[in-house]
Amino acid sequence: MSRSEPGFAACRDAIELAVRAPSVHNTQPWRWRVGSDRVELFADFGARLTATDPLARALMVSCGAALHHLSVAFAMLGWRTEIERLPDADRPDHLATIRCAPQPPSRADIDLAAAILVRQSDRRRFPGPPVAGADLRAITRRAAAFGAAARHVPDQLLPDLARPMRRAAARHVNDPEYLAELAEWSGCHGASIGVPARNATAARPSGEMPVRVFAGTELTEFTDAPDSAHWLVVCTPRDHRLAQLRAGEATSAMLLEATSRGLATSLQSEPLGMLDLRAEIRATVLQECAYPHVMIRVGAMPYAAAPLESTPRRSVDEVLEAA
Ligand SMILES: Cc1cc2nc3c(=O)[nH]c(=O)nc-3n(C[C@H](O)[C@H](O)[C@H](O)COP(=O)(O)O)c2cc1C
Repeated sequence: MSRSEPGFAACRDAIELAVRAPSVHNTQPWRWRVGSDRVELFADFGARLTATDPLARALMVSCGAALHHLSVAFAMLGWRTEIERLPDADRPDHLATIRCAPQPPSRADIDLAAAILVRQSDRRRFPGPPVAGADLRAITRRAAAFGAAARHVPDQLLPDLARPMRRAAARHVNDPEYLAELAEWSGCHGASIGVPARNATAARPSGEMPVRVFAGTELTEFTDAPDSAHWLVVCTPRDHRLAQLRAGEATSAMLLEATSRGLATSLQSEPLGMLDLRAEIRATVLQECAYPHVMIRVGAMPYAAAPLESTPRRSVDEVLEAA
């Protein structure tokens, strides 16, 4: 292998960071193949959550987040990436082919990669202090590079987001397939997949912004003060597989930007797996201008808050093969 390519060990290192990306229910629905001159990303459609994510949108967003994490990791290791997305029309699971060229890392590349190791979903209420407008603008601006956008939901529109979230939760408590999937993929203790009970909070009282409730909820809130989280809706002007993948990349970029600014984040998507509720969010929150893919909560969590244990991942060797 020439010095103009990273080699297997560096690709493995980059993939080890890429799999720290968020994924719906921590399903980690990706596979990686490392060749002499490329890394390939595949969707693992076998990991699709059929009741939670019937159209595999959240799966695609998750893979997009991993793709962006990979390019951030390569940048830190001294490699610029060129990405061909959905390169094979006959293989819908082949999401991207990534090729590298040498490029010294910038300070910004290193900071963003460092954020991969710090970021985690913090589902607790965020007590504040208020997030600076400049921070929110810098976070939302990140989406544009991926052909996506992030709508910062103003206070007066939060009820329009809360309503479909409550309706989704109300339908789900009577949906045996959804509940079986939730029991399989959350409330976990010691598993390398799924959402650990220690990272999930109990249901919020009515009147607060709702969040998805998992099967095991052992994480105690830091505060009883109202949640001061800002809600960002990640959206794209079109709604196809490529847009979903790009929305995932944008989500990753925004999460890492927020983390590098010392802010806490988590993701929410419960109503987006239901066509009518997703259409409602598109109509009310996005004024029919764009298609929503996932919601990001952003806020400040004081240092005094108990640190969260990070959510485990599969070993990289379980998801990587050499070509
Ligand atoms: C597309 C997508 C949808 C998600 N939806 C939710 C959600 O509805 N509620 C939630 O608490 N977390 C949600 N998450 C976050 C995952 O549960 C989380 O990323 C995963 O458990 C790994 O934990 P980590 O983010 O702390 O690394 C979602 C993540 C993605 C990528």
